[in-house]
Amino acid sequence: GPTLGQLAAAKGRYFGSATDNPTLTNAPYTAVLGSEFNQITVGNTQKWQYTEPSRGQFDYRQADQIVAFAQAHDQIVRGHTLVWHNQLPGWVNDVPAGELLGVMRNHIANVAGHYKGKVVHWDVVNEAFEEDGTRRQSVFQQKIGDSYIAEAFKAARAADPNAKLYYNDYNVEGVNAKSDAMYNMVKSFKQQGIPIDGVGLQAHLILGQIPSTVRQNIQRFADLGVDVAITELDIRMRTPRDATKDAQQAADYRAVVNACLAVTRCVGITVWDFSDGHSWIPSVFPGEGAALIYDENFAKKPSYWAVYEAL
Ligand code: XIL
Repeated sequence: GPTLGQLAAAKGRYFGSATDNPTLTNAPYTAVLGSEFNQITVGNTQKWQYTEPSRGQFDYRQADQIVAFAQAHDQIVRGHTLVWHNQLPGWVNDVPAGELLGVMRNHIANVAGHYKGKVVHWDVVNEAFEEDGTRRQSVFQQKIGDSYIAEAFKAARAADPNAKLYYNDYNVEGVNAKSDAMYNMVKSFKQQGIPIDGVGLQAHLILGQIPSTVRQNIQRFADLGVDVAITELDIRMRTPRDATKDAQQAADYRAVVNACLAVTRCVGITVWDFSDGHSWIPSVFPGEGAALIYDENFAKKPSYWAVYEAL
């Protein structure tokens, strides 16, 4: 039958996966990665700690391997991510306040310039808001101020005019204080002519707790004139899995896919890797896992078939 990527493409969307360099030498893994998906996100190695480990020294060797894999398999690439408070090399925290805007612009010019024409989307700024909708007090917020997000988008547009520029965050899938803050920022950027093309809803979700307002939330961003992408989908549970949890997870995956497909401007869905053996969840949420659509042995779970049927 068709792959998830083919099913999504028939609806003018993509269905993709994040991946990371260590798995590129795992043949059973790459057999699925290279065939089932029509989009790849660079899961780690485009982050600042990898691309500019010391000031002015850029290294694209690892991320280039993932981009080359995607190109060899006719997969589009989402770039992730240019400005984020995590996985930031220590030297950035020590840049004097008066120099950080220049450092940020230089980082964006180099990284987005290197990948010009090779990424369809950039997650320009990642996770800039707190749960209450106030700005996260990152080094960029503290030393540059509120304007750093707009400056980052302007620098990204200059570096790669054809890439769609996204703001990406978590716990913004439904309507809440944090997604309201993101909404107000996008609205003001559109009014001011700041170049933003989309918002990424990470969608690191919890079994049985899919917000009821996902479709409504996607629609309100579409109505502002930006695209929406589900960028890092996984649905975690207390492990071990069982048939009851698997059935709930399948229903949850189906609900997310349906919410995206209901809005024309929801352009695609990316799972945050595809196999339970290669998920970030167990290392960050002890006792939780089994969040993806393939099991550790690359067998398709009920959640895979729910996505397949919904697409
Ligand atoms: C995670 C990666 O999957 C891990 O391998 C890494 O150790 C930490 O980062 N939000 C994001 C992603 O935007 O970049 C994060 O990826 C998961 C949360």
